Formats: sequence, C-alpha cells, structure tokens
Amino acid sequence: MIQEKKSPAALLKIDRATSTPLHRQIYERFRTAIEQGLLHPGDRVASARSLASELGVARGTVETAYNQLAGEGYFSPQGQAGTAVSPSLPSPRSTRRTPQRTETRAFDPALAEAAPPPPLQLGIPALDAFPRKLWARLAARRARATTAADMFYGDPSGHPPLRTAIATYLRVSRGVSCHPSQVFVTGGYRASLALISHTLLERDDRVWVEDPGYPPTQEVLRSTGQRTVPVPVDEEGLVVARGVRKAAKARMAVVTPSHQAPLGVSMSLARRLQLLDWASQAKAWIVEDDYDGEYRYAGPPLPALKSLDRHDRVLYAGSFSKVLYPGLALGYVVVPESLRDAFGEAARTWSNGCPQITQAVVADFIREGHFSRHLKKMRLLYARRRHMLAAALLKAFGEDVRIDLQAGGMHLIARFGRRREGDKALARRAQLAGLNCQPLSVRGTARFRDEGLLMGFTNVGSALHAQQLAAKLHKVLGREP
Ligand SMILES: Cc1ncc(COP(=O)(O)O)c(C=O)c1O
Repeated sequence: MIQEKKSPAALLKIDRATSTPLHRQIYERFRTAIEQGLLHPGDRVASARSLASELGVARGTVETAYNQLAGEGYFSPQGQAGTAVSPSLPSPRSTRRTPQRTETRAFDPALAEAAPPPPLQLGIPALDAFPRKLWARLAARRARATTAADMFYGDPSGHPPLRTAIATYLRVSRGVSCHPSQVFVTGGYRASLALISHTLLERDDRVWVEDPGYPPTQEVLRSTGQRTVPVPVDEEGLVVARGVRKAAKARMAVVTPSHQAPLGVSMSLARRLQLLDWASQAKAWIVEDDYDGEYRYAGPPLPALKSLDRHDRVLYAGSFSKVLYPGLALGYVVVPESLRDAFGEAARTWSNGCPQITQAVVADFIREGHFSRHLKKMRLLYARRRHMLAAALLKAFGEDVRIDLQAGGMHLIARFGRRREGDKALARRAQLAGLNCQPLSVRGTARFRDEGLLMGFTNVGSALHAQQLAAKLHKVLGREP
C-alpha cells in the first residue's frame, strides 16, 4: 500500500505561508492524489495521529481534513483497521497500474489492460513453465536460515557462493573459464554496462554498437558520456571492416554474437576472430552481451566469444532475465583477470550490491542442478512454441508472410508483403489490439532499411493459442487503414 511505503509528508507538502487553512491543504492534496491515481481505491492511509506528527500539525487539523474526505466519499473509515481510500471509487483509467518494461515505451491502453506479459511480448521466458513451487521452497529455506550476518551489507561484487556457481556454470555450459573473483553480480545488463563504462571508459570515448541493435545499449552508453558508433550487421554478424573504417580507434565494441539482437544471426567464426584481432591491436575492449545464448534449437549452444579470447579483451555480460525470470533483476559480468581489482573498486563505489537472499536462492538453484534441468526443458519447450507460432502465422497469412527462423533465441521476425504501411504502423495496429509486436526498423539507424514484426513466442501456450493469436493478427493487419 502506498501509504505504508511512501512518507505521507512527501505526498502532502504543507505550505504555511499561504492563507489556505492547513486542514484545507491536507484535504486538497489527498483529493488530488486520488484523482491522479497516486492513491488507489482500497489503499490504507496513515492514521490522523501519525500524519499529524509527521507534518508537525495538530491532530485535530488532520481529523478535520479526514472527516471532510470521508463525508465526500473519498475516504472510508475501516474501524480498527484505520482509514482507507474508498474501495468503491472508480479507478481513473489513465492511472491503472501498468505492466512494467514491456519494451514499448509509449503508454498503450490496450496493452496496459492485459495481464502481463501481453501476447507476443519479446524477451520474457515462459512464465507458466517456471518451477515456482521449487523456487518457493528454496526461497523459504533461505529465509528461515537467515542469520544476523546475512542482514549486514553484502559484498558489492556479488554473493560469493553465487559468483562461484556462475563461474562453474560458465565453464561447463559456455566454454568460458574464469575464477569466481572475475565474476561481478549486478542488477542486470544495463547495470553491467554502466559498471563497465564507469570502470574502463572516459567521456567522449567512441564505442561500436550494432546497427540494428538493442536500444538500451546506446541509451546506457550515451548516459555515461560515450559516443556510440553504429556498425552494420549482415548475415555473419557485425561487419568488423566497416567498424574499422568508421572508427578504428574506438575504445570498445558491444556485440551479441550468439544471437544478434534483433536479427537473430550468429556471428561467424571468421568475424569473431576478426573482431578479437581488431581489439587486441587497438587495445580496445569487447563486451559480449550473451543475453539468450543458451537457447539454440538446432544443435548445442555455440561457445561464447569469450571462449576464444586469448588476449583478455572480452568482458562477458550475462543476465538471469531470460534463463530464470526478469523480475529477479540479476545479471553479471565476467572481467579479465587484469581488471579484477578495478572492477572491485568500482563496484564498491557504485553499488550496495544486490539482495543477498535472492542471490543465495539463485546460487542454490544452480548448485543443486535445477538450473541445467530447467534450461534443458525450456529449450525443448521453446522449440515447440516457436514452431507453433510460425506454423500458425503461415497458415493465417499464407504467402503474405515470410518468416526467417534463426537457430536460436526467443523471438521470430515476420515480414509481411503487399502492405502500403511500414512496420511501425503495422506494429501500432497490432498493439492497439493487445498484441505486443515490435517493429524491426526502429532498432536500426536510418541506414538500416529492413522491416518486419518481432514477436516473442516463449509464452504461446498451445497450438490453439498460436492459431488464435495469428487469426487476431490477420484480422488486424488484413485490412489497410
Ligand atoms: C539484447 C539484450 N541484451 C540484454 C538483455 C538483458 O537485459 P536485463 O538483464 O536488463 O534484463 C536483453 C533483454 O531483453 C536483451 O534483449
């Protein structure tokens, strides 16, 4: 409840210099907070006594305001339980709590109405297939065993057992050999990139980014003061020669070699070697964003670029968002041994670390073998769901759609023929119908010309569900505006 978390005084700044009586100011501020959706029907409000003490006014002043709010139906006294915003008040439509991070930045009423994740949402693992009971058991066990030491500040570089579990997993599954002290646990990919930037880069340093690419990469780098240099991507991944031509002396390159975001291609061995060669000559860093490299449906997962790194130029960024769930907000970065102390120092400067208990549960999940079992299951499940969605789209659209299935990942790209509209308009229409397709074109610069709709298939629950989604999409896109 908002009142319990947020100080009422923060919500109710009182101005003693105006002629408006204090009780009236309190009344007005609560009313506005309700009308603007900061307080919701059913939210409990502070008792008159505690609010009076927080605001430094007489209790009677607050009681006068509360009585007026109750009289007008904004508040409803709840006996022993105190006072709440009237549960029967209608919720202002524009202020309903909306699903977080849907990859569409703009507010969209149809998407906001759907329970998260909206259909076809990108990048969310299958939430129906997460082993919640097992997770709850591990979390409860950890919570029960909490000691006073666990309640102290944790290590800002990461909970040691989790750093060890990650290092072990990477060696076995991704061919990356590192010591646990090279693993830094963060709040996710963006936190990893910001940590890298604070530790290794200067203002105005140039950084190659993929074109098209993952928008947050550019956003983070720009916010930390670097200049991003978009480098085109072809069917072999980042075109290293173009990067060299544009900015040979760049300080860093950020790439998604396992499964390019968003095109889905894997970087060829020749390009990997070329990129590593450039980095070692230019004394530049490479960030390998391996956000979903585990998901590959034809053959085993490709080894990470980091596994070929003989000159210690690669920083490997991983995330638990795709392989567990994004609400965990946990990622990590593996740094070359020579940078270990610098990153330890930076982590101490920039962060209090991540929640200890969450890290401990993830460590248990990995160590006890649940993680590799879960990944194995998800690989099979996603292969099926990918196939179901592709088949349903082909059936609904026939020759009007082209689907390039890449070997891995969590989304497909559908390209529609014979449309006067661009992919932005198509995506918008789908979104208005509650289908969270994303346009491909906006992920690249003006030079990037490809168009299509990106669709996440991981939460498509059945063949019937896939058919319903495809039929709905066909209905929405079938007619020109
Ligand atoms: C290309 C790419 N990198 C990294 C991530 C992981 O980000 P985070 O750890 O912030 O969830 C994502 C998630 O969507 C992604 O698409």
